[in-house]
Amino acid sequence: MIKALRGTKDILPDEIRLWQHIESIGRDIFYIYGYNEIKTPIIEEASLFTRSIGDATDIVQKEMYVFCDRGGRNIALRPEATASIVRSYIENSLAQSSRGAKLFYIGPMFRAERPQQGRQRQFYQIGLEAIGSDNPFIDAEVIAVSVRFLERLGIEKFHVKLNSLGCQKDKIRVIEKHKESLRPYVEKLCETCKARFDKNVLRIFDCKEVSCRGIVENVSVEKTLCDECTSHFEKVKAGLDAIGIQYTIDRKIVRGLDYYTRTVFEITQESLGAKDAICAGGRYNNLVKELGGKDTPAIGFAFGMERLVLALQGTSGIRPQLSGLDVFVAVTGEQLYGEAFKLTESLRKAGIASEIDYDAKSLKAQMRKAEKLGAKFVVILGEEELKQGKVAVKDMAKHEQKEVEITDLIAELR
Ligand code: HAM
Repeated sequence: MIKALRGTKDILPDEIRLWQHIESIGRDIFYIYGYNEIKTPIIEEASLFTRSIGDATDIVQKEMYVFCDRGGRNIALRPEATASIVRSYIENSLAQSSRGAKLFYIGPMFRAERPQQGRQRQFYQIGLEAIGSDNPFIDAEVIAVSVRFLERLGIEKFHVKLNSLGCQKDKIRVIEKHKESLRPYVEKLCETCKARFDKNVLRIFDCKEVSCRGIVENVSVEKTLCDECTSHFEKVKAGLDAIGIQYTIDRKIVRGLDYYTRTVFEITQESLGAKDAICAGGRYNNLVKELGGKDTPAIGFAFGMERLVLALQGTSGIRPQLSGLDVFVAVTGEQLYGEAFKLTESLRKAGIASEIDYDAKSLKAQMRKAEKLGAKFVVILGEEELKQGKVAVKDMAKHEQKEVEITDLIAELR
């Protein structure tokens, strides 16, 4: 038997309602904050990601699905969407669009990680990007959207962790400082982190090895930002304070992708543990330019859908069910299926969700099925009633049954 690939899974109808619920709340809130939806391709030139996410990152080194297509092109299944959105922003001159470049997206991403609870090889992100401004109010606004989204979903016990990596020059200094603080422990790091120490020391801070985590948690990290970046960060914090968004400063948040500058943040949530973020994001002021566009600052975030689902399942909040059926059409004899078929079609055409079982053995079996499907009404076709142009309608909640003229049926059901 062929099974779904490791790290991928089917989202079955029972769960999909929850997904739709999350997506619909997301769309609502993003529109309220002025974001418009964008869909970019799942496949891109692999170099888009190596250039933006960075050569020395786990994503590019170990996790990206890359293949050569029939034309000999090097293609990647997107591991994230920010680089794609920036490519699209440049390619389609979205800077000139009257709607500006506040964009959100929902879709699958691919990373060959070791699968576990909340970590998949194909996973979904729901995220947004605000391209065009370095104003700290935008940082506060973007973080506010992520928090309001969680609040609207009824997800509690989450925690916003905030940091600033500073500008490009600061980042170089941050890297040097981190190197100094980690130097005494190099021999104790895992083999990958030993190599990272020279190539990209920041990545040691998101190593998942227990031994490395222990070291990272104990080193102290000094303040290293320039005056301008310090002032920017202060304003982001003031903006968040002004609208009552709670956060803690965590100097060790460095993020697993290289494009970040200045503000970075992560949101953790109790049902996922402190290690895995439900949402993560930050500024990437150099990426548009690095990918061939004009010098344009930007900031964004992405939520992991599977992690939102886990958090919602662990919350006592709303739990949407598969929506119940309006009508189940039942017959008292097999010869009536022709009439029932036509009647069901007319109900469906009128927008009334209806179901019928052409293979049922008895009326009793049909009533059981109607109950199982959660039908609000059962419309029963009987030989004698049909001759008089009537059907029986049973209200399943009230356990009441009455006869209705077929010509009045739709109005009556409504
Ligand atoms: P990221 O931290 O790589 O950032 O991913 C964002 C979120 O996607 C994570 O916090 C997590 O919830 C979810 N996620 C990541 N990998 C997996 C996985 N293997 N399985 C399940 N969920 C996962 C980005 O992708 C950036 N593009 C975010 C961003 C947008 N920064 C600026 N704009």
